[in-house]
Amino acid sequence: MCGIAGYVGPKNAIEIVFDQLKRLEYRGYDSAGIAYLADDHIEVIKKAGKLSNLGDVLLSEQRSAHSAIAHSRWATHGAPTDGNAHPHFDEHEDIAIIHNGIIENYHELREDLLKQGHHFYSQTDTEIAAHVIGDELGKGGNLEDAVRRAVKKLRGAFALVIVSKKEPNKIVAARNASPLVLGIGCGESMLASDIPALLPYTRDVVVMEENTIAVLTEEKIEILDGEGRQLPVQPQHIEWDLASAERGGFEHFMLKEIHEQPKVITQTLSGRIDSKGKVRLDGVFSDHVWAEIDRVNIISCGTAYHAGLMGKHLFEKLLRLPTDVYYSSEFRYGDPVLSPRSLAVFVSQSGETADTLAALKLCKSRRIRTLGIVNVIGSSIARECDRTLFTQAGPEISVASTKAYTAQVLVFALLALHIAQVQETPGVRVDEWVDELLRLSDLAEDALSTEEAVKAICAKVKDTSLAFFLGRGADASLALEGALKLKEIAYIPTQESPAGEMKHGPLALVDESVIAVFGATDASIVDKVISNVREVQARGGTVIGVTTTEDRAMEQVTDLLVRIPKSKFEFLSALLSIIPLQFFAYHMAKLRGCEIDQPRNLAKSVTVE
Ligand code: M6R
Repeated sequence: MCGIAGYVGPKNAIEIVFDQLKRLEYRGYDSAGIAYLADDHIEVIKKAGKLSNLGDVLLSEQRSAHSAIAHSRWATHGAPTDGNAHPHFDEHEDIAIIHNGIIENYHELREDLLKQGHHFYSQTDTEIAAHVIGDELGKGGNLEDAVRRAVKKLRGAFALVIVSKKEPNKIVAARNASPLVLGIGCGESMLASDIPALLPYTRDVVVMEENTIAVLTEEKIEILDGEGRQLPVQPQHIEWDLASAERGGFEHFMLKEIHEQPKVITQTLSGRIDSKGKVRLDGVFSDHVWAEIDRVNIISCGTAYHAGLMGKHLFEKLLRLPTDVYYSSEFRYGDPVLSPRSLAVFVSQSGETADTLAALKLCKSRRIRTLGIVNVIGSSIARECDRTLFTQAGPEISVASTKAYTAQVLVFALLALHIAQVQETPGVRVDEWVDELLRLSDLAEDALSTEEAVKAICAKVKDTSLAFFLGRGADASLALEGALKLKEIAYIPTQESPAGEMKHGPLALVDESVIAVFGATDASIVDKVISNVREVQARGGTVIGVTTTEDRAMEQVTDLLVRIPKSKFEFLSALLSIIPLQFFAYHMAKLRGCEIDQPRNLAKSVTVE
């Protein structure tokens, strides 16, 4: 998510780490900062907004240092302000740290530190980690000993990079689930969150392993395990060009973002399920409010609208809470009837979509409660809503939304379970749902293995003139999203609807030149789906089925089949089927030679009405 850079060696470290940050700009960020070793102290400079804001300050006077760390932040805790930007100091300003990831137990640690008289100047979890490390340093030993002891107290997924004024020519890094790459230069050492930042300086890199500590000096890099024992340093030589390195070796950002989904699932759940298996959603309405809400209106556009349809399934099936889903543009001009006890939920990756923002303002003017489900912290929708739940999916760069969709649906699931928990809704087994949510990342990892099968199917059907996307129940919502992906990046006309609607009109379009993608992840209604499959085949259409590994019915009738892992809950199986549908759009587009990350006529953030 955030960008990390660090350098120790004979050159001007300030210039190098700033250049490294610039090479990470494609990741997205909302603020940036740098710490470097001055004569007797650590100098920290940080600025909200563009990297050039930080650059202007750095250039305002002559500066030089032989070790520095720098960070571009994508906010997860606290708004994107100068104060919340990294680096952060410990209590005595002996060390400065930068951080990528989330410290899940920061609440408890903060409480303990406050009792001991610590002072905090930001709303970040990072500052808490800085104080924990600073305290450990005060107990003796060198910086790496202190970091090693401190990380044992931290829970979550993080990469930490630390400098100390007492050991000025050293950088220490700790990795726990968030990536960090070390660069071996000639008489210099460096690190970054991503390989592209290192490539202009070295092609010999070491990808840090989980739960290890790295110690960088200009002479050498050492890697230690949790007990302080030295581990072998095994560099690899990178041959990639810079552009493909930015995409982590993937050919397009869309493909990278599809592959990131297992990790995104973990991130979205992070900090939201407590050690007792209960859903813990900070920042939503107080418990008594849920009892007052008589209706939910979900308002959004495009992919976010499709995530809203999945939210409706849950709210109505689990909570029996009447829910409508509106396109933002229709909602605002449709003179909606709004109950004063209703809740309006606004879903947006960018948090800046003009129609959604306008619909939000309309609800606020009518004094309706508003809740945002947003990816970008500090965005307009996040700021305007009474309450906001962040999807924690990290920056999404490809115009075609993939990982943001999965995270949005997951937040709906967490919200529905939170309400069920608060209201003790009969029949909702929150514990079983939580178990299944915790398994979802692994299931998504398995679903990624459908790529080769999907690719083979694409090679067979790439010249189709029209693609139907069909399903029933939650699969019908997925059909809309699968179709949007295909038309958006492969420019293939699509016809999407609940499968049962086919014979009421769309069936007239079926002949030998069309394909129909049927989602059939719900075994309880597969017989009905099969009737619709036969209707298409009888008219010459080619049928592609997306079903679960346990299916024995679809395999008998479909022309081509993709199988995804089965979850105990049909809703989650349906959600997993988005992965092969995303691959389908991607590989069709690639075979047809389309521009994938920036499809024609479209923009990532639609800020015009
Ligand atoms: O940023 P938002 O989530 O508000 O954007 C809404 C739509 O513009 C967006 O989901 C669009 O449909 C995607 N590009 C589709 O892949």
